[in-house]
Amino acid sequence: MCGIIGILGNHQAAPIMVEALKRLEYRGYDSAGIATVNDGALDRRRAVGKLVNLADLLVTDPLQGFAGIGHTRWATHGAPSVSNAHPHRAGRVAVVHNGIIENFRELRAELDGPWESETDTETVVRLCERFLDEGLTPEAAAFATINRLEGAYALCFLFEGQPDLLVCARAGSPLAIGHGSGEMYVGSDAIALGPLTDRLTYLEEGDRAVVTRAGVRIFDAEGQQTHREMRRIAVDAARIEKAGHRHFMAKEIHEQPQTLSDVLAAYLDGDRVAPPVDHDFAAADRVVMVACGTANFACSVAKYWFEGLARMPVDVDIASEYRYREGPVSPASTALFVSQSGETADTLAALRYARGKAAAIVSVVNVTTSSIARESDVALPILAGVEVGVASTKAFVNQLAVLLCLAIRAGVQRGVIDSEREAALVAGLRRLPGLMSQAMAIETRCEELASRLAEASDVLFLGRGLMFPMAHEGALKLKEISYIHAEAYASGELKHGPIALVDRTLPVVVLAPTDALFDKTVSNMQEVMAREGQVLLVTDSEGAARASEGVWQTLVMPAIDPLMAPILYAVPAQLLAYHTAVHKGTDVDQPRNLAKSVTVE
Ligand code: F6R
Repeated sequence: MCGIIGILGNHQAAPIMVEALKRLEYRGYDSAGIATVNDGALDRRRAVGKLVNLADLLVTDPLQGFAGIGHTRWATHGAPSVSNAHPHRAGRVAVVHNGIIENFRELRAELDGPWESETDTETVVRLCERFLDEGLTPEAAAFATINRLEGAYALCFLFEGQPDLLVCARAGSPLAIGHGSGEMYVGSDAIALGPLTDRLTYLEEGDRAVVTRAGVRIFDAEGQQTHREMRRIAVDAARIEKAGHRHFMAKEIHEQPQTLSDVLAAYLDGDRVAPPVDHDFAAADRVVMVACGTANFACSVAKYWFEGLARMPVDVDIASEYRYREGPVSPASTALFVSQSGETADTLAALRYARGKAAAIVSVVNVTTSSIARESDVALPILAGVEVGVASTKAFVNQLAVLLCLAIRAGVQRGVIDSEREAALVAGLRRLPGLMSQAMAIETRCEELASRLAEASDVLFLGRGLMFPMAHEGALKLKEISYIHAEAYASGELKHGPIALVDRTLPVVVLAPTDALFDKTVSNMQEVMAREGQVLLVTDSEGAARASEGVWQTLVMPAIDPLMAPILYAVPAQLLAYHTAVHKGTDVDQPRNLAKSVTVE
C-alpha cells in the first residue's frame, strides 16, 4: 500500500522524489518522507498527512543530495505520526518499506531499545545497523538483514557514506528498477518512475538487488546472481491529469463511455466475442471467482452471467476468506481473479493457493505488468487506463464488460449460445458506450439529490438479481467517499430483518430497471413506502411510468437489455456517491483510511 521511490541521480534528488511521491500518493497518504546522502552524510525529512506537508517542510528545511529514498505511507503498525513515518533510520542506515514484517516482535526482542517508533520497519534498520557494527559491508549487512525477515516487503536501503548505492528486496510487494542514462531508480510501480524512464526491470518474488549508477545486480531468493528482463513500459502521463475536472473520480466517471468503448473494441470482432487471449471454459467443471471490494462485486454480477449464459457453476469468494478457507478447487476448475491494481495481497495469495491446486489461472486486471497478471496462465486486460481516484469507477465498469464478454465466450464454447444469439448479444454490447453517454445526463439530478443524502446518517440500497450486487457497489461507493453508513440488501430479504430500520429519515435507493423481476422489486419498494421510507427509484422510463407514484424521487435511466443493465447502473451509484461526498466536503479522491493498492493483508 505504501509507495517507494529511490534515486541515484545527477541532480538534486529531493524535488524529483517529491514529484514521484505525488504519483504514488494513491498508495497511502498518512505521512511522507525522504532521506538523502549528501557529502556522505545521511539526513531525512518527514511530515504527517498529505505530501504537500512534506513539500512545505522542504521549503523551510531543504535536503541536499543526489542520492535518496522516499516513501508515502498507509499506516499499518503505529498511528500516522512523524516518528512512525518513513524513512526509518538507525545510525548509518535508512530504509523505506512497503508491507508488513511479521516477525518484528521476535526481532525487537533480540535488539536493544529504546525504540523511536511503533513500526515493524524500525526493526529492519536496527538489525542492519547491528550487522554494520559487526563489520559487514553495507551490501552484506542489508542482505543479512533481509535473510532474517518474514512477511511481505518491498524494501530500499540507503547508507551513510554511500552516495552510489541502493539495496532493494522484494517479497510479496512489487518493486521495479528503472534504468536512466547514468542514473538509476527504484519504484513501487511504473507510475512512480513514469517521467524518469520507461525502461524497467521488475524484481521477482524473493529477489534482492544492488543498484549503483552503473547498473543493477540482481540475486534470486537462493542468493544466485540472476538476469531479469528489462522492458519498455510507457505510462501515459496525460491520463494522470484531472483534465479540467475537480476530482480524478469525476474525470474517471466521465471517461467511462470512452474506456468502455476501448475495451469492447479489444474484445469484439464483428459480431463475435474474441478476447485478446482465449481461455477454454468448455474444459472447466466450474469457475471460482475471487477478488476484494468493488472487484468482488463485479464477480458477483458475473456469477449471474456465467450461470445464465454458459450454464456453468460459479463460486464467488472474498479473497481474504478464500485464501484461508482451503475451499475445494481441482485441476479441472478455472480460478478467475479480478483486480484493478493486480497487486492486492489477499487476491494474490488466493491465486497462489489455486495454483497450488493446479487449477487454470485466469486474471482480469488493469495493470498488465502487475504480480497477479504475471502469475496467471491467462491475463486479460480491462484497458481502463490509469485509475487514480481511490474509489474504483471506470475499472469496475470495464471489469464488468470483460466478464460479460467472457461469459458469452464461455456460452459459445459450451454450445449454450449459438451464433445468432452471440451476434445479438454483441450488438447489445456495442450499444453500451452510447447508452452510457446518455446516462451521464442524470448528473444534475444526482447533484440535487446529494444535498438530501448528505444529511442522512444511513442509506439503504436494494436490488434483485443482477441489481443485488450493484446495490452492494452503490452502498460501498457511498460509504467510502461520503462516510455515510450504507447497507445493501436483496430486495426480497428486506422483510427478514432490515425493514425494522425503515422510518421517514431513511433514504432507500432502489435499483430497478424493468426486467422480469421488476414487479417483485416494486412490491418490496411498497413495503418500504408503507413505513414512510424515502424511496429513490432508479429505473428506466417504463419503470418510472409504472411505479413512480408515492416515491420520494425517481432517476430515469436509458432503457437497456436487463442483462447488461449492471454496466449502466454503475453510473447512478457513482454519481450519487460522488456528489454526496462533494456536498459533505470530504476528500473525494483520497478518502480517509483508504489506499488505492492494498498490498498488505
Ligand atoms: C472500492 C475499491 C476497492 C477495490 C479493492 C480491490 O472503490 O476500489 O474496494 O476494489 O481494494 O482492489 P483491486 O481491484 O486493485 O484488487
